[in-house]
Amino acid sequence: MKAERENFGGRIAVIMALAGSAIGLGNIWRFPYMVGEHGGAAFILLYVLASVFVSIPIFIAETVIGRRSAANCRGAMEKLAPGSAWKWLGYLSVITPLIIVSYYSVVGGWAVDYLWKGVNLRFLHMSPGDTGTIFNTLITSVRTPLICLGVFLAISFGIVALGVKSGIEKFSKLCLPVLFILIVMIAIYSIRLPGAGAGIEYLLKPDLSKLTPKSFAYALGQSFYSLSLGMGIIITYSSYVSKKENIFVSSAGTALADLFFAILAGFAIMPAVFSAGIEPGAGAGLIFDTLPYIFSSMAVEMPVLSSIAAILLFLTILIAALTSSVSLIEVGVAYLIEEKKMKRGWACVVLFLCVGAFAVICSLSMGPLSGVKIFDKNIFDFTDMFSSNILLALGGFLCVVFVGWKMKKEDVWDEFTNSGTKKRNKAIFGTVYFLIKYLAPVAVAVIFATNFLLD
Ligand code: PFF
Repeated sequence: MKAERENFGGRIAVIMALAGSAIGLGNIWRFPYMVGEHGGAAFILLYVLASVFVSIPIFIAETVIGRRSAANCRGAMEKLAPGSAWKWLGYLSVITPLIIVSYYSVVGGWAVDYLWKGVNLRFLHMSPGDTGTIFNTLITSVRTPLICLGVFLAISFGIVALGVKSGIEKFSKLCLPVLFILIVMIAIYSIRLPGAGAGIEYLLKPDLSKLTPKSFAYALGQSFYSLSLGMGIIITYSSYVSKKENIFVSSAGTALADLFFAILAGFAIMPAVFSAGIEPGAGAGLIFDTLPYIFSSMAVEMPVLSSIAAILLFLTILIAALTSSVSLIEVGVAYLIEEKKMKRGWACVVLFLCVGAFAVICSLSMGPLSGVKIFDKNIFDFTDMFSSNILLALGGFLCVVFVGWKMKKEDVWDEFTNSGTKKRNKAIFGTVYFLIKYLAPVAVAVIFATNFLLD
């Protein structure tokens, strides 16, 4: 007898798992900086437009593929387009997240180390001027980053090994509310610091002069990254969504939760950055250099408060990274279980070894292997650039083309109406279908091209 496939247990569980995947480092280390640099509230408006007209339709297209096939990414293509070249979209969707999680987990490891530093009250004794050197010493060394990377991957794989319901669903349901509570607490603390107003202004003041034709490309690129599009996650998670759920509601709910968290992260981080009188930046430098600088400077006057804030912040970053890495891993695990008939536990062991090996190389590429360059970048930076600028765009593009041009329109309608059991507004469906078929592929192709021209 065929073993029954697991499903998420209801709408809240679906949104929590999808939002857990979406909310990650992208919200914390990319969004606040992008907003400030590209016109504040004006950029947020562009981001919302890009999400509504392009990213959410792509999200829905991936959901349609996943739920209709109820299979892993490769199996989905075999079910919906048997024997065709679309199988390569399946393989691409399985490989991309495995590549991504290899460098993402290195950053997750750094978060483990910084949480440990916070718990051991190390920020109290750090001199603010040394935070950059401390970070640099960590990432270029061998032992500590590898141990922390191992811890991060072991937790992520451990959760996936427990299964869809007992692992991923339980973890997401527990972590998402905790994430929101933590980020609100940090935001409240941050906006009350002296001089925080400048940070709020940086985030919110609409500055139309900063909007350029490329801003839309940046906004779309950010919402793509943030919503975890084009890398098989939405297909895989949606394959666990029951036929009774309204896929429109779960897609919109996830996008809303993701945006809300990104804005809260902006309020948690930028006011503190401005209060400390430093230049905002993006990426690893913001989290592991700028923020420790703030904590160690504040430690002189407010040791207890700054220690608590540091622990809470690195805990938030770690949980956000974990809920995302779990989703990245599940794509490959689902593939091995269904296509290679492996037991979940074994699939996790095999992928742990493969991902772990590449992650070790990514980690060492900032230290002993820093001389190895691909297109002038070390392996870590190249992997990041290649996956987020090229693989995601390609995956997302092929998914909308698949749903808009390969699948039958009646089948897409069937998914919208839960196999004809629910009444749905034809005009809304028509609009979403138009966006999937025409606007989204064109927009992604344009962004893909512009990404090469962007600095
Ligand atoms: N959406 C998650 C984030 O914003 O961190 C997960 C993620 C997306 C990780 C895209 C990596 C990536 F390239």
